[in-house]
Formats: sequence, C-alpha cells, structure tokens
Amino acid sequence: MKNKTKLFIGFILFACVLTLAACGTTDSKTSGAAGETEEKPVLKVGTDAAFAPFEYMEKGEIVGFDVDLLAAVMEEAGYEYELENVGWDPLFASLQAKDLDIGVSGITINDERKQTFDFSVPYFESTHMIVFNEGGNIQSAEDLKEITIGVQNGTTGQTAAEKIVGKNADNMLKYETTAVAFMALANGDVEAVVTDNVVANEYVKNNPDANVESITDKENFDAEYYGFMFPKDSKLKAELDKALTTIIENGTYQDIYQKWFGAEADTEALLE
Ligand code: ARG
Repeated sequence: MKNKTKLFIGFILFACVLTLAACGTTDSKTSGAAGETEEKPVLKVGTDAAFAPFEYMEKGEIVGFDVDLLAAVMEEAGYEYELENVGWDPLFASLQAKDLDIGVSGITINDERKQTFDFSVPYFESTHMIVFNEGGNIQSAEDLKEITIGVQNGTTGQTAAEKIVGKNADNMLKYETTAVAFMALANGDVEAVVTDNVVANEYVKNNPDANVESITDKENFDAEYYGFMFPKDSKLKAELDKALTTIIENGTYQDIYQKWFGAEADTEALLE
C-alpha cells in the first residue's frame, strides 16, 4: 500500500470515530432534554412502621394507608423506590443527612420541622386524642396533669401533651414507638397515651380486650396535616406535589381512603 493510501484510510477511520463520538453525545443530550429516556434514580423512602393504620408490619411487610398512597404517587411520578422501616428518630436524622430521599410516616407538617426539612402538599388531616383505661376519670386534656402519660418521643403528640403538662414534666414518659406507648398503657406503666386521633381510634377498635377508651379535646388539641417529608431544597418536592395533587384529583386517593377507612375523604379540604 502506498503511503498516501494508508494516510487516507487512517483519516477515514479517524473521521468515523469522530462522527460516532459526536452522535453519541448529541443522542444523550436530546433524550435528556426530552426527559423521556433519562434514568431516574431509585428513591429511598423511610418510615416508622408502628403506627397503624398508616404504616405497620403485617407478615413481615410494611402495609398501611401511607404505603398505598406512596405507591400511587410513585407510579404517577414514574419513580421506582425502596421503602425501609428505619424507625422514627433515625428517619429524621437520615433525611437530614440526605441518606434518605423521602419520609412517609404520618408526619405532621409544622413550622419547627420546616426549618430543617421540606414538606409536600398536605395529604391527611389529623388531631390528637387521649387513650386511657376504661373507667379512668378523664374528661379533658386538663386531666392529663393529674396522671402518668405516655407519648411517642419526638412526635406532635408529645408537643400537644407538653402544652398541658409542661416541657419535661415528671408525669410524661416518652417511648420510641407509639406501639410501645400503647403497651405501657396495657401494662399500667402509664394511665393515658396522647397520639394522633386515627391511630388512637384504630387501637381502641383493634384491642377490644384491652378495655380502653379515647376522647378528643377540641379546646386543647388543634388540627394538623400530614405531608411527605424531604431533605431541605429537595428537587423531588415539585414533582411529587404534582403527582400527589393529581392523585387527589383523579380519584386514586379516594379509592385508597375508602380501602383503609371505609368512608369518603373530604378531598376538597385537602386541595384548598
Ligand atoms: N403525626 C405525628 C407527628 O408527626 C406522629 C407521627 C408518628 N408516625 C409514626 N409512623 N410513628 O409527630
């Protein structure tokens, strides 16, 4: 082969490589911009699965209203995810450290938490209730001052109780999970548990032999809302807010609500 021919073939090969490389780049750029074939990360979601009917363990699986809602939102937003039962306090720590992408755990949206985390649009209205052993003379939250009370540590149930009995009151015991607080009530370690109304009612309903009753106190316990919790400035918030709103509007939320609560949800109030 003549030197000139060699050079020519070499040049052609070189040109081919360049073209291919260029094609490669343009290719991924266009699909990236279109956002269709772009790989979405598998999201890490954390919960504290001792809070029936929102999240709890059944036959080794995490189930509950929140779990179904999360699945629907993820499907709507086109994300794959892994849900892990990390526990309540670790949930907050892991989200802050960005080791988790989302917390879904009946988490109340409030100003204090908003300083450290971002929240989705609200998806559930809640308030507090007092659960106590039948015959206990408890008429209002004021009566909590006279008895030993149990709360889940770091929850708004704790804050609601502290508003009545004061911070670090001697008669308030803090437990790692709400389920353990209920056990303490059954054991007689505490005389009442302050927790979210739906969880309180579920416990009373599911434990007829425990002989417990529950009361609310509209004067002392405010309404609050649950949201998905994100690390601060998470880019997921906008996308998942959109998906959550779609699901509330298109009836999927209503179906999940029916399944768990056997009643119709007031979605109008949520969308306000
Ligand atoms: N809504 C209350 C709060 O945000 C209690 C939530 C507890 N959730 C749980 N899965 N243990 O403080």
